[in-house]
Amino acid sequence: MSTYSKPDYWALKAQKEGYPARSVYKLEEIDEKFKLMKPGVRVLDLGAAPGSWSLWTLKKLKGTGFVAACDLEALAKPLPFPNFYFLKGDLYDEKVRTALRDRGPFNIVMSDAAPLTSGNKMVDTGRSFALVEAVMDYAGEMLKPGGSMIAKVFQGGEEGELISRMKAMFAAVHSFKPKACRRESFETYLIGIGLKQA
Ligand SMILES: C[S@@+](CC[C@H](N)C(=O)[O-])C[C@H]1O[C@@H](n2cnc3c(N)ncnc32)[C@H](O)[C@@H]1O
Repeated sequence: MSTYSKPDYWALKAQKEGYPARSVYKLEEIDEKFKLMKPGVRVLDLGAAPGSWSLWTLKKLKGTGFVAACDLEALAKPLPFPNFYFLKGDLYDEKVRTALRDRGPFNIVMSDAAPLTSGNKMVDTGRSFALVEAVMDYAGEMLKPGGSMIAKVFQGGEEGELISRMKAMFAAVHSFKPKACRRESFETYLIGIGLKQA
């Protein structure tokens, strides 16, 4: 049984609205605040399973733009949109990276990727830090100038270091914790807006 066996308000809302995960409302809130999902954008979704962020984005784009996604796990169900590409694989894998790069460049690189938690906060924040570093690498390589990045990070490690590095890449950087994050969770989202020209 999961740590969170009792569905909360957000989980019930997700079930009712046909999303496989409650995390969809975190992206919705991020977008309400930062207004990144514009018609026609090309989006890369890293750590996409079970598929709520991709599904929400595809609905929002209403047939315009494109979403490429990858995850170690399969999606809860296939998303039958012609402007969607999903690859099951590890975002650290060079073959996965090449396949995703071929679908770019992107306006938005977003990652809700989370490491398997060990229960040891130092280990878990370290793994989360490494995932965000990898996402920053993707953003540096595959974003169009002016593009944006959204990445989940576990707080309590060295996220200040990530923010400093993102400030060198983006015109504006924010740390934002959506209301849909569980109160007890130590996750937050780092948002970089306006990739600077290399
Ligand atoms: C919280 S879930 C993402 C939920 C998703 N945003 C949604 O709304 O359905 C985190 C995902 O990150 C994925 N993940 C973690 N490490 C990964 C890696 N190295 N490569 C690809 N996916 C990874 C996990 O398999 C997991 O499915």
